Amino acid sequence: MESFEALRDEWLKALDEAQTESEVLELKGRFVGKKRGKIQDLLMQLKSAPPEERPLLGQAVNKLKGDAEAAIEAALKRVRAKRTQLEPIDVTLPGLRPNAGHLHPITRVRREIEDIFVSMGYAVAMGPEVEDPYHNFEALNTPADHPSRDIQDTFYLEGGLLLRTQTSPVQIRTMESRRPPIKIIAPGRVFRRDDDVSHSPMFFQVEGLVVDRGITMSDLKGTLLQFYRSLFQRDVNIRFRPSYFPFTEPSAETDLSCVICSGAGCPVCKRTGWLEVGGCGMVDPAVFASVGYDPEEYSGFAFGLGIDRMAMLKYGIDNIKYFYENDLAFLEQF
Ligand code: DAH
Repeated sequence: MESFEALRDEWLKALDEAQTESEVLELKGRFVGKKRGKIQDLLMQLKSAPPEERPLLGQAVNKLKGDAEAAIEAALKRVRAKRTQLEPIDVTLPGLRPNAGHLHPITRVRREIEDIFVSMGYAVAMGPEVEDPYHNFEALNTPADHPSRDIQDTFYLEGGLLLRTQTSPVQIRTMESRRPPIKIIAPGRVFRRDDDVSHSPMFFQVEGLVVDRGITMSDLKGTLLQFYRSLFQRDVNIRFRPSYFPFTEPSAETDLSCVICSGAGCPVCKRTGWLEVGGCGMVDPAVFASVGYDPEEYSGFAFGLGIDRMAMLKYGIDNIKYFYENDLAFLEQF
């Protein structure tokens, strides 16, 4: 009992002398800590005391513990109060700027593209990413035996649905629900079983569709030229190369004068001076037939381009995968 008193005095003195919170917490560990705290030691020793002395000793140890906890609380209050006195908050210090983040480069380029077309009078249309084969293929004049319907290109889902391989089905959905004049773009995700430095199984396209009386291929070419000049903010040029798409006739591949070397020839344009940037053409009468438009009355143009490709050219990025790895070291550069 006497040594208890001595112990108590020793602790109270040590607590009194403690100046900082960490000193107090350290003493707390030594007194009442569950592992190797002195009180824990005493409780263990109780087991070897003569049975008749145990109740009394037990009470004494418990009291010691209660006293120690109260003293620790008091000491903590004291050092914490002192700390706020000693270290007043300097309200004139500059604040910590929160890390606000920013838009993904693909989102930024998508919005730029939308803004350009909206400024030319286009509406932005959306369609489902899970499509049926009718809208993704048949209505776009792509019958079941067409090569692009090969199992290797398309992700098929259970129940006959699929992940759209292109934004072109939004053309069909728009024409099904409205009459001309139509002037829309349809940005969105598309999916293909394709994977290398310039292909990702998921990527972004923008579809364009204009249908009215008297729409011609020169409207198409002028529109795309204007668009690319706005997007790249310089005097780029475009040229059309004959091509084939099931839903346009005639069809063309759009080439853009290289935005890296301005046409002189560089590795990005494979020394040709031209970049292949998207497909386009005049809406095929078969497509009008599938939505009940009279091809004698209306004509239209359509185009499709890759947003990822535009972002890669705009920012000089040589691998599409960077966009989808969520690597902050990459994303923070934009
Ligand atoms: N859907 C085509 C593709 O994914 C791109 C395309 C080409 C869209 C020509 C069009 C078009 O609207 O007229 O490769």
